[in-house]
Amino acid sequence: MGLGGIKRILVTGGAGFLGSHLCDRLIAAGHEVICVDNCYTGTKTNISGLLDSPMFEFIRHDVTFPLYVEVDEIYNLACPASPVHYQFDPVQTTKTSVHGAINMLGLAKRVKAKILQASTSEVYGDPTVHPQTEAYWGNVNPIGPRSCYDEGKRCAETLFFDYFRQLRLRIKVARIFNTYGPRMHPNDGRVVSNFIVQALRNQPITIFGDGSQTRSFCYVDDLIDGLWRLMNSPDEITGPVNLGNPREFTIRELAEKIISLTGSSSSLVFEPLPQDDPRQRQPDISLARKQLAWEPKIPLEQGLTRTIEYFSAALRNRP
Ligand SMILES: NC(=O)c1ccc[n+]([C@@H]2O[C@H](COP(=O)([O-])OP(=O)(O)OC[C@H]3O[C@@H](n4cnc5c(N)ncnc54)[C@H](O)[C@@H]3O)[C@@H](O)[C@H]2O)c1
Repeated sequence: MGLGGIKRILVTGGAGFLGSHLCDRLIAAGHEVICVDNCYTGTKTNISGLLDSPMFEFIRHDVTFPLYVEVDEIYNLACPASPVHYQFDPVQTTKTSVHGAINMLGLAKRVKAKILQASTSEVYGDPTVHPQTEAYWGNVNPIGPRSCYDEGKRCAETLFFDYFRQLRLRIKVARIFNTYGPRMHPNDGRVVSNFIVQALRNQPITIFGDGSQTRSFCYVDDLIDGLWRLMNSPDEITGPVNLGNPREFTIRELAEKIISLTGSSSSLVFEPLPQDDPRQRQPDISLARKQLAWEPKIPLEQGLTRTIEYFSAALRNRP
């Protein structure tokens, strides 16, 4: 720890959607940030506001290779999060989760850093209980097209808890549910960004299935606040802890809300559901409420409005 409580903090995947917001937040709090990213799905544009800061350093590096830096805390976010990107090179996706976790845990052990893993609600697979609590073990297909992501993240959780039990590392595991906001990729196939881009272009909005499947959507600022609270919680709080918004919407409701907020003339078109697509996914956030005094605050309309503003500007610059 540096002077005046200033910490040196490593954020892997720091040039991505969530990582760049996290870097913003840590720099704003006065900390020194080392952002590590191989720019697979992240971009320097996401962190362009930070590159001039003397407190911020960007290193282009792939977390599947070891890294040696002196830090007090590590947020391990490196991993493509959208199916289009994580299925493009599934072997690399598993390697990023598993080798990435091994390398970052090894680093945390060497420099005695506290380490947080960005895990995912995908560890619950296609859940048979609703809403999902952290005690649910999940229903995951080990050999399907989504397995590289789901099983990679499950294995990373295993590694975190083995380092905790075996080597007494200070660990934190967050199971993140669907999060949206500015800096999502315009063509990564995730539902919020897809719908907004289609609506802004007045193109038909594609709904997979009949649109009655539900999702819950957490705005990025709320999520980052949850990660920050978890990292700064007492050492005995390790997680896994669910972070997400428990308010459920059907996919059809989401599409209709976006059409109305953008004033779009888009119609709805329906296509078959992809393999292993969960019917419903909703976090039980009782544990986060109790242990972190955290819950999402930003309503869907407000978050969507900010995200639509971001995408309108992004599409104007890159139509
Ligand atoms: N956004 C969500 O809704 C959500 C939900 C659950 C979990 N998560 C997790 O949060 C983390 C961040 O997700 P995101 O939505 O910001 O996705 P993202 O794709 O925008 O960010 C991931 C970042 O990791 C980088 N990266 C990928 N492989 C790497 C490697 N081998 N070495 C170094 N960097 C690498 C990418 O370039 C990118 O900048 C991921 O671990 C993801 O699994 C996100």
